[in-house]
Amino acid sequence: MTWEEVEIAKSQIYKLYSYPYANGVTVFIRDITQNRHQENEMKKLERLNLIGQMAAGISHEVRNPITTVRGFLQILQSRSDSAKNKEFMDLMISEIDRANAIITDFLSLAKANVDSTKMLNLNDIINRIYPMCQADAFNCNKEVLLDLGDLPELELNESEIRQLLLNLVRNGLEATPERGQVQIKTYLHGDSVVLAIKDEGTGIPPEVRDKIGTPFLTTKESGTGLGLAISIGIANRHNAKFDFVTGDCGTTFYVSFPLKKAIEEDLNKNK
Ligand SMILES: Nc1ncnc2c1ncn2[C@@H]1O[C@H](COP(=O)(O)OP(=O)(O)OP(=O)(O)O)[C@@H](O)[C@H]1O
Ligand SMILES: [Mg+2]
Repeated sequence: MTWEEVEIAKSQIYKLYSYPYANGVTVFIRDITQNRHQENEMKKLERLNLIGQMAAGISHEVRNPITTVRGFLQILQSRSDSAKNKEFMDLMISEIDRANAIITDFLSLAKANVDSTKMLNLNDIINRIYPMCQADAFNCNKEVLLDLGDLPELELNESEIRQLLLNLVRNGLEATPERGQVQIKTYLHGDSVVLAIKDEGTGIPPEVRDKIGTPFLTTKESGTGLGLAISIGIANRHNAKFDFVTGDCGTTFYVSFPLKKAIEEDLNKNK
């Protein structure tokens, strides 16, 4: 017996088994697309886990010297008479703050903040963060629109969901041309609450599509490539499915939160 794996158009993978016998050959074809997708998802999760552990390890080593340098820069800044020097110090301090923010983002890849989850309505979190999204959009002459359906409450970590929303909306705005729109939509689908963020960009570059969620993967000059890795981590911690559909007319990111838990809570409340 021999077997071979065949990949058709990247999306379907089949395993062909052939059993030769005296008068010919019998061939079995098995669709293993689903298994392969699951294996790839697992690999991604393992990679994130490893990165989280590394990040936790280096955080102190890198942060302490940075904080010391920042402190001395502040002292020098306050003693400096020259306006030009003060300006340079300001720049150095803000660059140090930026480095610190990147480390914080990187560390949040691993942080499991399960304690701070509450039963919340996703729409309320979106409404609270909406003014910030609108301000972002306004600054670049674009628009963010809401289309929020009726939703039950879910067990959510508000600060993480805010971060997820900001990351996805910012990516959407960065991809969308001027005068374009990014839409935040929520709806019930089967036993999930779906959050969909749709932009009017030109789609995720093909070389990035298969690697979405890899930390530090970016095509932007000033991007860190952490936004999606963080967002996928947040979705995983909420047991939510993270998905996207992309093409020439734009990209939609979907985060599907399972409802089962929310329904059970409701039932328990009504007992
Ligand atoms: N809505 C989108 N449309 C097109 N490409 C996208 C979109 N969202 C993400 N990408 C692609 O995926 C890459 C990774 O995105 P990610 O948000 O992780 O990092 P980033 O936006 O480059 O940097 P940052 O850390 O500042 O978010 C982007 O550089 C871009 O190439
Ligand atoms: Mg981003």
